[in-house]
Amino acid sequence: MKPRILVTRATFGEVIEELRERFEVEDNQKDDIAWSRDELARRLADKEGVLSTGSDRIDAALLDAAPRLRAVCNNAVGYNNIDLAACSERGILATNTPAVLDDTTADTTWALLMAAARRITEAERWLRAGSWKEGWKHDRLLGQDIHHATLGIVGMGRIGQAIARRAKGFSMRVLYHNRSRCPKSVEKALGARYVSLERLLKESDFVSLNLPYSPEAHHLIGADGLRLMKPTAVIVNAARGGIIDDAALIQALRERRIAAAGLDVFEGEPRFNPGFLELDNVALVPHIGSATRATRMAMVRLAARNLATALAGRRPPNLLNAEARPKRRRA
Ligand code: DGY
Repeated sequence: MKPRILVTRATFGEVIEELRERFEVEDNQKDDIAWSRDELARRLADKEGVLSTGSDRIDAALLDAAPRLRAVCNNAVGYNNIDLAACSERGILATNTPAVLDDTTADTTWALLMAAARRITEAERWLRAGSWKEGWKHDRLLGQDIHHATLGIVGMGRIGQAIARRAKGFSMRVLYHNRSRCPKSVEKALGARYVSLERLLKESDFVSLNLPYSPEAHHLIGADGLRLMKPTAVIVNAARGGIIDDAALIQALRERRIAAAGLDVFEGEPRFNPGFLELDNVALVPHIGSATRATRMAMVRLAARNLATALAGRRPPNLLNAEARPKRRRA
């Protein structure tokens, strides 16, 4: 009998068809709303694998409702929605989709950085509102120069490095802060200098957050950190909500203690602090960092490959909990 799997959110039809060649697939292709936790638990009860997304909270209680489950394969590089220890305790393998979205997410980060720096979304709103009555004006919508400025990257993993590579085209000075310092060869190739977080916040014209969410990263950038930044600085977050204290950011933007922000992610998304909507100096997009067809396809195919490999009893390519002793398939 083919293993039963659950695909929790809609994805490309051709991928579902490919999955059906190997598995009994229960899908959510209508995807009108994400399933509630109870619904998810009910549907997982007889499944051996799940292809999840970052919006599905996979915790111990949910895993207990899924006694046959052997693999949780996230269709995302971030995996803060998965309790890895709980997976390991139950012999369930967990995977993510690293690398395939690095360049696309770096592109999005740059789009936000540039939109916030040059007031692009604000300018478009102004134009659409019919406010453009006079011709060219020397001080209309003045923004921040990006070229030759200092970019501070917090989190110099694959995505941070892709952002740094793009900074070369803008002749920028690049500072970075990371849990561990990159090898000298990487620093040299990127032209990036390792500094403390405090120094990075003080000296950067642009701050880009590119680290995974973890309890240690919660509100890494709060009122104190924002106070260190230049009044002309721009902050960009295309990593995870919760790394910035959104209430503190709104306050700093409102008081013009920093110039602008570009945000793809929010605390508590899809709900977010409505204070952002009252501000002109923030560019807001709804978690679209990896949203190109090619990248979303590469992500889901990688998640599907992880799932097929794990359910075949082999080590999946992007295993997150190597310590887990894989559970045997139930008869
Ligand atoms: C990820 O992969 O973690 C993104 O946030 C979802 O596209």
